[in-house]
Amino acid sequence: MLTREKILESLDTLPVPGAMRSLVKMNLVRDIKIADHKVDIALASAALAESTQQWLKERVVDVIQKLEGAPEASVSFTDAKPKEINQINNVIAIMSGKGGVGKSLVAGLTAIALRRQGFEVGILDADITGPSIPKMFGMNGRVTGSETGILPVSSRSGIEAMSINLLLPSEDDAVIWRGPLIGRAITQFWEEVLWGKLDYLIVDLPPGTADAPLTVMQTLPISGIIIVFTPQDLTAMIVKKAVKMARQMDKSILGVVENMSYLYVPEIDKKIELFGKSRGAEMAHAAGAPLLGQLPIDPALAKLCDEGNIELYSDEVVDKLGESIARAIKPPAKS
Ligand SMILES: Nc1ncnc2c1ncn2[C@@H]1O[C@H](COP(=O)(O)OP(=O)(O)OP(=O)(O)O)[C@@H](O)[C@H]1O
Ligand SMILES: [Mg+2]
Repeated sequence: MLTREKILESLDTLPVPGAMRSLVKMNLVRDIKIADHKVDIALASAALAESTQQWLKERVVDVIQKLEGAPEASVSFTDAKPKEINQINNVIAIMSGKGGVGKSLVAGLTAIALRRQGFEVGILDADITGPSIPKMFGMNGRVTGSETGILPVSSRSGIEAMSINLLLPSEDDAVIWRGPLIGRAITQFWEEVLWGKLDYLIVDLPPGTADAPLTVMQTLPISGIIIVFTPQDLTAMIVKKAVKMARQMDKSILGVVENMSYLYVPEIDKKIELFGKSRGAEMAHAAGAPLLGQLPIDPALAKLCDEGNIELYSDEVVDKLGESIARAIKPPAKS
């Protein structure tokens, strides 16, 4: 018998061009009516260009007619904005009190680790003046969309991302906007991007505790913060600043990640603490949250980031990071 479940299962095979996740995962299926050998499907038009809507319409009719009993199918589009469609279970912000400690790297690895566990994951690059997510993931696809919104760009492993770099004519273009404009861009990335259904949206924050990270904390419903630091002297003070900011904004800290913790030299089978002794335990204590991971300085990782191949990095540190993050967050039901 033709059921709603069977129809949804078949629609889950249809990718939305650009985002490359299915109609179902993008939450675009609004209504299904089954009556007398006929199926009526209403889809949301959010962020879909006319030509994409037409393409999807034809594919949906195709897929439905292949189902048991070859039912007739009709497809209509209802107006909707991404904001009304998006269903995001957890918004996790990656933060640090200072620049260049590896926030974007940790944001990328966190997304990868969660994706490898089978979750639906997106990355919102909230660093408008220094975006680095697209480069790490080798994303150079152009963003598509319509009057109502835009579609994120999908990585090779199916992580959705939005970054100002994906909207600029050339990736070298500088963004020299002032605060209010930056704030508006971040709000638009939240409200006008069709993220669909996501288990996790990872937000890569700009460095520091100034204007832009503040905007993110005020605009987005952050469910938890991960603080990144390196084992250097000044770090303790900087981590404490970040912790204070998170507390003032009433956001919970999921944990801390120590980056550039050590360098492993295989020839002598030794870990060298280049930037000084690990301060993982001390920082976890200061944040009142667990130490989620300690990442080594790994030249192979830096190379993969430069080449846009961060998703090829496979090391047990990533698996461990994913496991401890999943433990720190109450795992949502998989969408
Ligand atoms: N553990 C590591 N091993 C090797 N290279 C690393 C490591 N962590 C960071 N890097 C390299 O250091 C550089 C800075 O990292 P990243 O961009 O993640 O820092 P950030 O905190 O996001 O910086 P910003 O404050 O400018 O946003 C990158 O080029 C990255 O490849
Ligand atoms: Mg960064």
